[in-house]
Amino acid sequence: MHEAKHILATDLDGTLVGDSEGLQQLLKFYEEQVYDVSLIYITGRYYDSALSLIESENLPVPDILVTDVGTTIHIGENFEKDEVWEARMLENWKPDEIDEIASTVSGLTKQPLLLENRCSYYVEEKEPVEEFQRKLESSGIPYKLIFSGGRDVDIVPLPSGKGQALQYILDKYNIRDAKLLVAGDSGNDLEMLTLGFPSVIVGNALPELLESEEHPLIFRATKGYAGGIQEGWKHFHSE
Ligand code: GLC
Ligand code: MG
Repeated sequence: MHEAKHILATDLDGTLVGDSEGLQQLLKFYEEQVYDVSLIYITGRYYDSALSLIESENLPVPDILVTDVGTTIHIGENFEKDEVWEARMLENWKPDEIDEIASTVSGLTKQPLLLENRCSYYVEEKEPVEEFQRKLESSGIPYKLIFSGGRDVDIVPLPSGKGQALQYILDKYNIRDAKLLVAGDSGNDLEMLTLGFPSVIVGNALPELLESEEHPLIFRATKGYAGGIQEGWKHFHSE
């Protein structure tokens, strides 16, 4: 990763994954380039679920796999956990207290998942999210709330999230002048799309992203999914 000169940092569901023909075309396009593209997958899924998706969709194995909405980083062939990042996550992290507060908010349902470093819930409308946020705020517990797709509410440690995880990786490997493209389709991607690197919002993105502020480094693709990534890559990095 230290040597990476071309990097795609992408969300999986609804971004890299969703249109298999577009995905095949994107992979073929990358194969045809004279350079290699390093891959960083940054997903909301938990580790095992991300691995099954990679397998079932036949995705190229990434150099780095970030799971659980930017709270866990797995590196290299064996996907070893980044322990420095892990320690940072566990500092001041109070999942039991967060769950306790969540149980006092009606309309919030805990996601039935094996989760690492995050507390995740479902809602059907946005009012419970506002109430939850108010309660978390007055508890003084450090947290970051990420609302995606009008349905998923993730509470993650304050120094985490997809954007901070990506920035950590770039700093760790001292990546300064690589051609990087960040790609996403929903609310939990917003933080990484607005880091200040060339980014693409794919054409099928959810309203929460389509409504986000315009920026010269945020390209809005017309094509959906992987086709949108390819459009974004050509927009920023055609050589
Ligand atoms: C994925 C995860 C879910 C999370 C959501 C939003 O769908 O499976 O747990 O809440 O992303 O980040
Ligand atoms: Mg997505």
